[in-house]
Amino acid sequence: MKYKNLIKQMTLEEKASLMSGENFWNTKAIERLGIPSIMLTDGPHGLRKQGGKADHLGLNKSLPATCYPTAATLANSWDKSLVYKVGQDIGKEASSEKVSVLLGPGLNIKRNPLCGRNFEYFSEDPYLTGELASEMVKGIQSNGISACPKHYAVNSQEHMRMTIDEIVDERSLREIYLTGFEKVVKESNPYTMMSSYNKVNGDYANENQNLTDILYDEWGFDGVIVTDWGGNNDRVAGLKAHNQLEMPSTNGITDKEIVDAIQAGTLDEFILDEAVDQLLTLIFKVGFENKEPVHVDYEEHHSKAVEAARQSIVLLKNENRILPLKAGTNVAVIGDFAKNPRYQGAGSSLINPYKLSNSLDHLQKSSLNITGYAQGFKRMGASSSKLVQEAVSLAKSAEAVLLFIGLDESKEAEGVDREDLKLAQNQLELVEAITKVNKNVIVVLAGGGALELPFADQVQGIIHTYLAGQGGGEAVVDLLLGKFNPSGKLSETFPIQYTDVPSSDYYPGKQASSEHKEGLFIGYRYFETANVPVRYPFGYGLSYTTFEYSDIVIDGLHVSFNLTNSGDVAGAEIAQLYIEKADSVIFRSKKELKAFDKVYLEPGETKQVSLTLTDRDFSYYNPEIKDWEIESGNYMIQIGSSIQEIHLEGTVEMAGASPSVFLKNSYPYYASANVKQITDSEFESLLGRELPPKSWDPHKELGMNDTINQAQYKNWVGKLLYNSIMFVHHFLKKIGKPLTANNVYFVINMPFRQIDRFSGGKVSKNNVERLLRWINR
Ligand code: BGC
Repeated sequence: MKYKNLIKQMTLEEKASLMSGENFWNTKAIERLGIPSIMLTDGPHGLRKQGGKADHLGLNKSLPATCYPTAATLANSWDKSLVYKVGQDIGKEASSEKVSVLLGPGLNIKRNPLCGRNFEYFSEDPYLTGELASEMVKGIQSNGISACPKHYAVNSQEHMRMTIDEIVDERSLREIYLTGFEKVVKESNPYTMMSSYNKVNGDYANENQNLTDILYDEWGFDGVIVTDWGGNNDRVAGLKAHNQLEMPSTNGITDKEIVDAIQAGTLDEFILDEAVDQLLTLIFKVGFENKEPVHVDYEEHHSKAVEAARQSIVLLKNENRILPLKAGTNVAVIGDFAKNPRYQGAGSSLINPYKLSNSLDHLQKSSLNITGYAQGFKRMGASSSKLVQEAVSLAKSAEAVLLFIGLDESKEAEGVDREDLKLAQNQLELVEAITKVNKNVIVVLAGGGALELPFADQVQGIIHTYLAGQGGGEAVVDLLLGKFNPSGKLSETFPIQYTDVPSSDYYPGKQASSEHKEGLFIGYRYFETANVPVRYPFGYGLSYTTFEYSDIVIDGLHVSFNLTNSGDVAGAEIAQLYIEKADSVIFRSKKELKAFDKVYLEPGETKQVSLTLTDRDFSYYNPEIKDWEIESGNYMIQIGSSIQEIHLEGTVEMAGASPSVFLKNSYPYYASANVKQITDSEFESLLGRELPPKSWDPHKELGMNDTINQAQYKNWVGKLLYNSIMFVHHFLKKIGKPLTANNVYFVINMPFRQIDRFSGGKVSKNNVERLLRWINR
């Protein structure tokens, strides 16, 4: 133990006191021993340091900071150095505000496009996720502070996020849900890690010994696990499973639980000492004692935010080369989002932007001839024929229309999943009306993820900004005008319709559990293997130039090829390497991304691209030997500009084993990736145990870890509580306050144990217990 002597000087109570926060954002100090308090703050795509009242839903304003594109957006850049630089800048802003731990990046896997927080996560692919998140961590930590990758693990849905039990088989857990975290730990050594709220296979992530053993013993993590805010359930069980820091403060309640457990002999004091030692190691590493003050140039950071957006925005359609728009073109600008950008998501990641650019201003200052602006639709969905009429008459006389549409702020928020993949009906009606009167419509989309695009064949151009941060408004104008050549590619698949998504029939888990029946067939792993058509495939994105691939050489695990810019403007291409084992005897994804590179090329220029694979890239996880294993034989190496546009191929032979698990004939539905048909018994055989109940038992007595949602199945007190909250939720939605409605809905998913903590002590634990007694009566 590094701080053995210091720990020896502490009383039991002092040691236990360090295990939870002083307040919402700080750890406790022990002044007599010179132990300072450190501050932890969100994250992830900018700094959210709250000056005044604290909360974890982004309700109260934070200090102005640079709002960079969110992770889902940055992931479309596939640019590791860019993500590093963004991390570096955010870390610098955190340092300048004496924030020691920046709560991010978020790297949960986008299991299903409806997850309300997908905008904060990188990709449906674990390799891409891990590569980019590692760079973000390195960038943040280059400032001498700690990143805090989150939420470990399988935080796949927002609905019931504090109690849902995510049921995942061991292979999918390792290959899909943990790989990103593993890469981050091994490649960038984060000093902290945030456990998620949910359960994983029966145990709360924060108390899940399996998850923390993997983290510490297998991957060599030596930092501190921090609970998600209010994510502690059983403090002693959490401590035993390596959770050193509970946040936020519990006013000493859980510190006492630790002391009591040691005194009763149910917790070994050594476990506490070790946890204190790990926490002190963090505090003394990332604290600000004796550090020089850091100065931030926010104008410079704004320019970097614009650059990050330029690199990340994806050009999805460019019929007849309608883009870039030529100087002097008469252009009508339509859509509320042109003037009031949608640039970030709601919840704990909500940044108060230092400055905010909008596209309309930049278009009006550009070389285009802007013939006018029309709002076109009401942002929160109400229909308005007047706004449509105004937009239509403006569109009629223009040579081209730039139509800014997307998801409004209420659609992507922490605590609530999306209801569908659709754009609001009033926006779809607007698109229809405009395309009837103008043939040159370019849709500029905003929103943090995949969308259904029923109008894709009716418009000439589509460009997806995702949630491009405070500089997105001007960045997209640079792309529309050709000042910058688009180079982003999708880090997730765009299905034609939501029902095509593998887990669409059972996502999200509604009550007790969420079954990951589709196993590893999420995103492109499903669409490619099951041969289901998509709107836009994984890795897809257009450029104003063209690229040619040639001369592949495969030398062992080294793959090289030439990439040429064969068009007449400079641009960057994201070359992707997939592997395929066509004759595999085990069920597996048809293709898997294993390497990529983003290469910038002048017109006519050729560069050699070299990519190196590792044994792990060919391995699957075999739970029987608790290790990664290669199936011996030939593997196809494919180089493409998306998962569906493969330009070069070759093979490599790998030595390995002959598998005895996951054999295709034992898993007929998994073998064909026909995951929508998977029976409970096939899933159970993959899982190796019986499925736990999906639903709540209405007769069960409710306890502190149950949710207000469950109260509706109890007596009239429970029903009244539930119905009153839902009434307020629906009422707020009806009167056009969907954001507040979301926050009210959040309460439904809250376990009773959170009521006293989140009410800031206004509702005491005794009162919550009394309420529970009434509900159970
Ligand atoms: C979120 C975390 C966040 C924390 C603190 C929680 O609700 O899940 O991602 O870091 O609040 O704001």
